[in-house]
Amino acid sequence: MNQPVLEARDLSKTFASGAERIAVFSGLSVSLAAGQSLALMGRSGSGKSTLLNLFCGLERPDNGVITLLGERFDYREAGAAGQQEKRWARLRRRQIGVMFQEANLMPALSLLDNVRLRARLAEQPLEQCQTWLERLGIGELAERYPDQVSGGQRQRAALAMVFAMNPDLILADEPTGSLDRRTAEEVTAELFRLQAETGVALVLATHDPELAEQCQVTLDLAHGNQAGPAP
Ligand SMILES: Nc1ncnc2c1ncn2[C@@H]1O[C@H](COP(=O)(O)OP(=O)(O)O)[C@@H](O)[C@H]1O
Ligand SMILES: [Mg+2]
Repeated sequence: MNQPVLEARDLSKTFASGAERIAVFSGLSVSLAAGQSLALMGRSGSGKSTLLNLFCGLERPDNGVITLLGERFDYREAGAAGQQEKRWARLRRRQIGVMFQEANLMPALSLLDNVRLRARLAEQPLEQCQTWLERLGIGELAERYPDQVSGGQRQRAALAMVFAMNPDLILADEPTGSLDRRTAEEVTAELFRLQAETGVALVLATHDPELAEQCQVTLDLAHGNQAGPAP
């Protein structure tokens, strides 16, 4: 069998709260194959964003090992932190596409230039950028600035940015959480359609069971933390 895109073993994470430490999760293990989709479920505060941050190296676990795209990150190895940060930064630039609740667009750049900037950082061809906007139904808005389009159109542009980098893994943190129901469903449909077409692996954090059901695997942070097939 092919190597998983993402494998986390025995992850624990605590945060300081005054003199105490609060455990967000402990002993969490999960594995994601190429092209697979994983929903991170759980109410607000259950640790979804924290786990996504661990999966792209923006937070460090207290314990555990993450293997991402064949690169192993083990924070128990003394003296390895600086070198691991560099490897995470390279993965984030080239192979991990990240999406948030609000599209992370540069306000001073047109939608097309936002996509081009992201593609350039990932060392991907710039000629495809307009095509990605068209595939997302906003080709005619390419020269507009983020404040000249709707929230749903901004999230479509954010999707174009992610796909234009040709990533191996997409991490999406409540990507439709700021949109009305109908727009959220449209943007979600585009995300799953392009994910299936490109074969990229996806981790989607959501508190919405209907959205989670569309993923192949569900990890419920509120109820234990071993991933299993969606019910
Ligand atoms: N930087 C931080 N410092 C202290 N506590 C944090 C920090 N980030 C998150 N937490 C806490 O960790 C828990 C999980 O938060 P989070 O991952 O944001 O949950 P979710 O995304 O599921 O809403 C919450 O109790 C939150 O208050
Ligand atoms: Mg969150």
